[in-house]
Amino acid sequence: MCGSIAAYKSLELVRLLKKDGADTKVILTKSALNFVTPLSCQTLSTHETYIDQFVLTAGIKHLSLADWADILVIAPATANIIGKAAAGIGDDLLSTTILSFRKPVLFVPAMDTGMWGNTIVQDNVSKLKAHGCLFIEPTSGTLASGKVGKGRFPYPALIRKKILSVTAGYNSLNHSRFLISGGRTEEDIDSVRVITNRSSGRMALELLYAVSCRDGVAKAVIGETNMTFPGEFDVTRARTADEMYGALKKEFRWCDCLIMAAAVGDYRPRTRSIRKIHAKTHTLSLTKNKDVVKTLVAKKKDKVIVGFSLEDKIDITRGKEKMKAKGLDMCVVNTAQGVGSTSANALILKKNGRSVRLGKVSKWELAHTILDECSELMRGHT
Ligand SMILES: Cc1cc2nc3c(=O)[nH]c(=O)nc-3n(C[C@H](O)[C@H](O)[C@H](O)COP(=O)(O)O)c2cc1C
Repeated sequence: MCGSIAAYKSLELVRLLKKDGADTKVILTKSALNFVTPLSCQTLSTHETYIDQFVLTAGIKHLSLADWADILVIAPATANIIGKAAAGIGDDLLSTTILSFRKPVLFVPAMDTGMWGNTIVQDNVSKLKAHGCLFIEPTSGTLASGKVGKGRFPYPALIRKKILSVTAGYNSLNHSRFLISGGRTEEDIDSVRVITNRSSGRMALELLYAVSCRDGVAKAVIGETNMTFPGEFDVTRARTADEMYGALKKEFRWCDCLIMAAAVGDYRPRTRSIRKIHAKTHTLSLTKNKDVVKTLVAKKKDKVIVGFSLEDKIDITRGKEKMKAKGLDMCVVNTAQGVGSTSANALILKKNGRSVRLGKVSKWELAHTILDECSELMRGHT
């Protein structure tokens, strides 16, 4: 952690990593001591906090720490440490550890927008990237100075996901553009009641995290959801099947790949009462909604289209039928058990007849497998 006002947010990152079972050691620069205390870092990481390079305890600290860790995360990274690292300077414990580190190095810059926009800082960032260092771009918003612009420290949950992606060794998506739908649609019965389903939106959220951690670009259209989508993501909200279709249609030209993780309602009430219904009994007559994905597929050109088929049990026959009927390139067959859960029982069917049997996996792992298969299809391999 460096001397930035965002250092306190990094304490949350240490906490999240600890919760994942990751072992985390914290190096603080001298400037960072003005913003967070060694005691906080020590308590959260359950390790000594490292500050001084020249100490009398056993071992050469910058070398032993560089050997010990699988990944070095500089969060927050100041303009100063970025400049020192780009120039190959090693004048304190953190900068010498960076120089000694032979595994992935991830910078998470946070600074005022003027500093971030400075061409010297940008040249240093480019130089470090050319040397293989990884970056999470700061986000835009209101900064500590009160100014609005780019420079904000990203959401700690996103940094955590990036660390998980890097350490798992997932490939880059090379700026491919993914349009992702998620959550559930709802349709009005009357002024207060709706028909809907139990989809949570978690699959779409994991896909958004996975795309952004692998250098892809994502836009999402999200219906009703139980999840919190961080402000960093480009999300359009849609409530009904018609709204979802309209929002997806608007962005469809932009994308290389559409992943339809949303549970779009098949039906809506034939009529909607503008007043609350008080009748003793009420018969609901339903009519079919537009088939969102099928309508979009008609304009697909060379885009890759991924659909989902959810049944009570894994149903390959139904998945194949759905893939054919809707013109999908890939279909994620999964079960009702996964609705609202962090895991799914899934199997991926591809147009060429190949299938990937996953069994029970976390939605995070499933998101990465879907993206791996999509990038294969986008590269023209079937
Ligand atoms: C209140 C305050 C907030 C600061 N916030 C940042 C910041 O967010 N990003 C940054 O690059 N520098 C920031 N600085 C300047 C750094 O603290 C300064 O460049 C320092 O030398 C960085 O040292 P380090 O990189 O060794 O931690 C801030 C300074 C002050 C006084």
